[in-house]
Amino acid sequence: MTSAANTPLPVSDDVLHSERILIIDFGSQVTQLIARRIRESGVYSEIHPFNQVSEETIRAFAPKAVILSGGPASAGEIETPRAPDGLWDMGLPVLGICYGEMTMAQQLGGKVTGSDHQEFGRTSVEISGECALFDGVWKPGEKHLVWMSHGDRIETIPEGFRSCATTPTAPYAAIADEERKFYGVQFHPEVVHTPDGARLLANFTHRIAGCAGNWTMSAFKDDEIAKVRDQVGAGRVICGLSGGVDSSVVAALLHEAIGDQLTCVFVDTGLMRQGEGEEVVTLFRDHYNIPLVHCDAADLFLGKLDGVADPETKRKIIGATFIDVFEEEAGKIEGAEFLAQGTLYPDVIESVSFTGGPSVTIKSHHNVGGLPDRMKLKLVEPLRELFKDEVRVLGRELGLPESMVGRHPFPGPGLAIRLPGGVTPEKVDILRRADAVYLEEIRAEGLYDEIWQAFCVLLPVQTVGVMGDARTYEYVLALRAVTSTDGMTAESFAFSHEFLTRVSGRIINEVRGINRVVYDVTSKPPGTIEWE
Ligand code: XMP
Repeated sequence: MTSAANTPLPVSDDVLHSERILIIDFGSQVTQLIARRIRESGVYSEIHPFNQVSEETIRAFAPKAVILSGGPASAGEIETPRAPDGLWDMGLPVLGICYGEMTMAQQLGGKVTGSDHQEFGRTSVEISGECALFDGVWKPGEKHLVWMSHGDRIETIPEGFRSCATTPTAPYAAIADEERKFYGVQFHPEVVHTPDGARLLANFTHRIAGCAGNWTMSAFKDDEIAKVRDQVGAGRVICGLSGGVDSSVVAALLHEAIGDQLTCVFVDTGLMRQGEGEEVVTLFRDHYNIPLVHCDAADLFLGKLDGVADPETKRKIIGATFIDVFEEEAGKIEGAEFLAQGTLYPDVIESVSFTGGPSVTIKSHHNVGGLPDRMKLKLVEPLRELFKDEVRVLGRELGLPESMVGRHPFPGPGLAIRLPGGVTPEKVDILRRADAVYLEEIRAEGLYDEIWQAFCVLLPVQTVGVMGDARTYEYVLALRAVTSTDGMTAESFAFSHEFLTRVSGRIINEVRGINRVVYDVTSKPPGTIEWE
């Protein structure tokens, strides 16, 4: 994990970043979605925790506008998180969302109290007045669906404000002071459950804050290529390829920036899906012509994992073995000074959030990033500013094939954590073949892009079956498929019974070693996506 906690807010003034929106985070679960919606409207945005933002940092950041996020606090409490007092005199447009609206109202002289009628979930707001936020989207007298999740209520609005939308229990569901360009909404425009939310936010960035929309992945690509050239000079860079979207995009971008100064290292753990290792080698070595070290370490990994059943032990063995192999291969590349990593913006935000991110280790993650400091390589992290969906757009911009760019996430420890009970080469082989049939059927049905992740888990349980006239005693296979927006929460995908029956029939007929197939319907939480 990178440490961005002490990095000052950037003041880069290139065209790409010349219009930026500052999002002050009060700890809402969905603050990241505000930044994503703003970026989708073509404007660069950054999230900073409220306790790390002062009047001076705002001035240095020079945003076109400021958004105050929601958060768990209640404006009725004695010590409440606040926006810097100087914010209101800077002449900047401000949008307060949920708690952000409450603190705005309170800091500007209004009165806020806890309400008996808390509103959570889908609600209808009635538009009660004109408002620049609603231009071209909502008209007075109309009713529209929004997503609420807060209990506070504004009793008195500050001077200069008027109400623009109401619900039966919230007379100030939206408020505006058009002269100072201050707006507040009690609902969450950033979530998809507010169907017009993205258009309201685009009104804020474009009509109210006057942004033109310079943030595109095509502009980002050119900008980042120039930055990488600047950073690396004539130096040599190593990039670990995993077959996933992030490392592939890093490699393609760096290749475009510095050509043969880049060498990719692909450690094949023998725990990947069918055909994925070959695809990585073919794409990067043969198609892009990138110098590629292909290290086939399957025997080493499978040897170390043989019979290992404990999930954390598996993860630790794989992580440590990967580092050893990678370090050895990287050591052979003469004069390498830099290591390229696919760190994304959510990792950067997590390292600076005032809550400090998750406190309990549910699973110790392994991926191609996170290599040890002792390698003494300087980091090149061209995706640090991007969300995952932006990385995909950038990948398309760089000409990566859709099969790579739209690929489901795949965990670093691979098939090993889909084999509860003990890894053996035979089980890896059975699992890999069943997984290939499952994914082939999902693709044929046109469902691949609707699903966040789909995979099989081979259970350490044998059951009795009958095939032809003979008794069988083979393994049970569980199918898993989930929908999700970020992997933090997930729902089981609702396949038709007919589809599941077809997949089950094909797997039992085509993959020796399995005689029963079940479907996992657990959500996250309480389950996790992977079984281990
Ligand atoms: P869980 O199972 O925790 O997974 O619900 C959430 C997401 O993370 C992926 N995952 C990993 N990714 N290294 C990775 O690169 C890992 O060690 C790892 N473990 C889980 C998982 O596939 C899902 O997308």
